[in-house]
Parts: sequence; structure tokens; C-alpha cells
Amino acid sequence: MKRMLTALLLVTAAPALADEPKVFDQIKVNAGAALFDAECRRCHATDADRASYGPPLEGVIGRAAGSVAGYPYSPALQSAAFVWTRPALKAWIEDNQGFVPGTKMRHVGITDPVVQDFILAYLASVPQ
Ligand code: HEC
Repeated sequence: MKRMLTALLLVTAAPALADEPKVFDQIKVNAGAALFDAECRRCHATDADRASYGPPLEGVIGRAAGSVAGYPYSPALQSAAFVWTRPALKAWIEDNQGFVPGTKMRHVGITDPVVQDFILAYLASVPQ
């Protein structure tokens, strides 16, 4: 009887447990969207069709730095030769002017790794 109950419990709980990482991912994306709205959105769109002061950021993870066609980058970012990996983006969010001296992006200093993580979760979720 006890065994059956355990089995029953597992069968009913398994789908919920399997969904848990997804639920957690969605929470991270939502938190990241709110943080992005507060810290980044006034200068960055996440839709290439919308003009903004900064370059559009949809698809930025894995994109070469300074590579959006037609965007007037600073000479510093234009001549940068690296790809926006997650560690690069975290370093940029933490201290963009230290990471690429001469960039025209106002200094952003978000040092909390959890906040950095949430913003990256949001950026990774934006459709391209
Ligand atoms: C005050 C306006 C402003 C704010 C706020 C701002 N940015 Fe920027 N951002 C810019 C500008 C301008 C550039 C172009 C920099 C250059 O050419 O040197 C830029 C460039 C970037 C790039 C390089 C993109 C590429 O195509 O190479 C990334 C990534 C970026 N910003 C992310 C962020 C994130 C994430 C935030 C919020 C935490 C943020 N920015 C907040 C203005 C801003």
C-alpha cells in the first residue's frame, strides 16, 4: 500500500517537478525584462526596426561587437574584435567603460551577479 502511494505520488508530482526548471527560467526572464526596462531600455530597443540612441540588442549574445550595420558606433567599439559571449556581456554590464575604454555608452555599474544573470536571461529570450 505504501509503495503504491509512493508510486502514485511520483506519477502525479513528476510533471510538476519536470516543469520546475522551466518555471524558474520564466521567472528569471520576467525579472530580467523588468531590470532591462529600468536600466537599459531608455537607450536600447530589442527590435531592430525601432531606432534608439544605442544599438538594438536582440540577438546580441553571440554577435560580434560593434557589428549592427548602420549604427554609428564609437571608434572604440567599431574596432573591437570580440564576440558578445555571456562572460563578455557580464563584464560590460559590470563596468562597460573599463571593459571597452572609449565607448560612448554611459557608465553602467551593475555588479550583482544575480542581476547580471537575469538581464542575460531576458536578452537570451528576445526573439530575433
Ligand atoms: C544612456 C544610454 C545607455 C544605457 C542606459 C545603456 N546603454 Fe548600452 N549602449 C549605449 C550606446 C550609446 C552604445 C554604443 C556604444 C559605442 O558605440 O561605444 C551602447 C552599446 C551597448 C552594447 C554593445 C552592442 C553592440 O552592438 O556591440 C551592449 C551589449 C549594451 N550597450 C548593453 C547594455 C545593457 C545590457 C544596458 C543596461 C544594463 C545598457 N546597455 C544601458 C547606450 C546605453
